[in-house]
Amino acid sequence: HSAVSVITTKRDGGELSDDQIDWVVDAFTRGEVADEQMAALAMAIVWRGMTRRETARWTTAMIGSGRRLDFTDLPRPTVDKHSTGGVGDKITLPLAPLVAACGAAVPQLSGRGLGHTGGTLDKLEAIAGWQADISVPRMREILADPKAGAVVCAAGVDLAPADKRLYALRDVTGTVESIPLIASSIMSKKIAEGTGALVLDVKVGRGAFMKEFDTARELATAMVELGADAGVRTVALLTAMNSPLGCTAGNALEVAESIEVLAGGGPADIVELTLALAREMLTQAGIDDVDPADALADGRAMDHWRAMVSAQGGDPDAPLPRAKHTETVKAPGTGTLTRLDALDIGLAVRRLGAGRARQGDPVQAGAGIVLHAKPGDPVSAGQPLLTLHTDTPEVIPSVLEALGGAFDIGAADEFTATPLLLDR
Ligand code: URA
Repeated sequence: HSAVSVITTKRDGGELSDDQIDWVVDAFTRGEVADEQMAALAMAIVWRGMTRRETARWTTAMIGSGRRLDFTDLPRPTVDKHSTGGVGDKITLPLAPLVAACGAAVPQLSGRGLGHTGGTLDKLEAIAGWQADISVPRMREILADPKAGAVVCAAGVDLAPADKRLYALRDVTGTVESIPLIASSIMSKKIAEGTGALVLDVKVGRGAFMKEFDTARELATAMVELGADAGVRTVALLTAMNSPLGCTAGNALEVAESIEVLAGGGPADIVELTLALAREMLTQAGIDDVDPADALADGRAMDHWRAMVSAQGGDPDAPLPRAKHTETVKAPGTGTLTRLDALDIGLAVRRLGAGRARQGDPVQAGAGIVLHAKPGDPVSAGQPLLTLHTDTPEVIPSVLEALGGAFDIGAADEFTATPLLLDR
């Protein structure tokens, strides 16, 4: 084989053989295929696509570039959830302990935020003492502990290393936007983490990776097929991401809101999505005699949250960090909040310091935005609409300017409620 022959096969619209795929991924991992060659191949894939067989083989090769964890010896079934990323999407925080409280084990290798969507590890790191980097033996101990049963940690360097390098290349060569490449990238990591079952939350809308329903559904289908091919029971929900989830976006703010949900309160959309995903996860795990709503209401999910935070060095009773400065955005008129744009809010939250512009940048734990109204709510002129939190007040003027177009206030009949759950 040669890199050039693999690239030109795909460039000219051909189908790559299993052998070509295995070779090129392995040679890339060993440094024998150069970055520019892999980037050229990625661009050819963006244009020509990959068949189901090619995508499955590509995914297997990505997994094979590192180690695949195995938790089949645990006494409980394993199941995980993956979201393609949204604004205010803190669902993992209440969901993982809830599902653990219902009898499954949740082994979640998670990521940090990049772009306008937050990362689960950044959120949990707002908790004093909490550690994202834990060893696989420790991961197994926490999963086996009947009091905890859920672990959310950083993926080790040996987990799908070819994907790590390829994703970084795609990021700087305009080759992220390919359904087979996105599907194989996400699924290689989820399959390698060793979960027995998986529920995907594929976001659709302004604040999501996939802005259109049809492409989101295509991505969901591709990922469900890859899961099935690898022996991981997989189901996907398509859910709306036009406005932020819940009433907070930003690391510590989202932890606080998640704790409200675990205490039996919290915003209706967060509770709805948490329960919908919990029910899917339990079904995939073969647990059909427990109602997650009970485990949320009676405090069992909260007990698991506390145990899971403590198991990773966190203090569940420590006060959460607060930003040094706040600024209130007031409603400019009276009426109904007809639109609140997830992308604009996500970009503002990042600018306030909660997210990062470049991989490896630090984030502020306390920064973010609190929403005082959700789309459909009545608002009166002068009432607080948003509160901005930041340690770097010099960014406030530019954030305020950018938020000018983030919302509309209109007549009640200009608002049409849309469902959160779009498809399964
Ligand atoms: N997230 C990933 O992990 N990979 C992609 O390709 C896109 C999003």
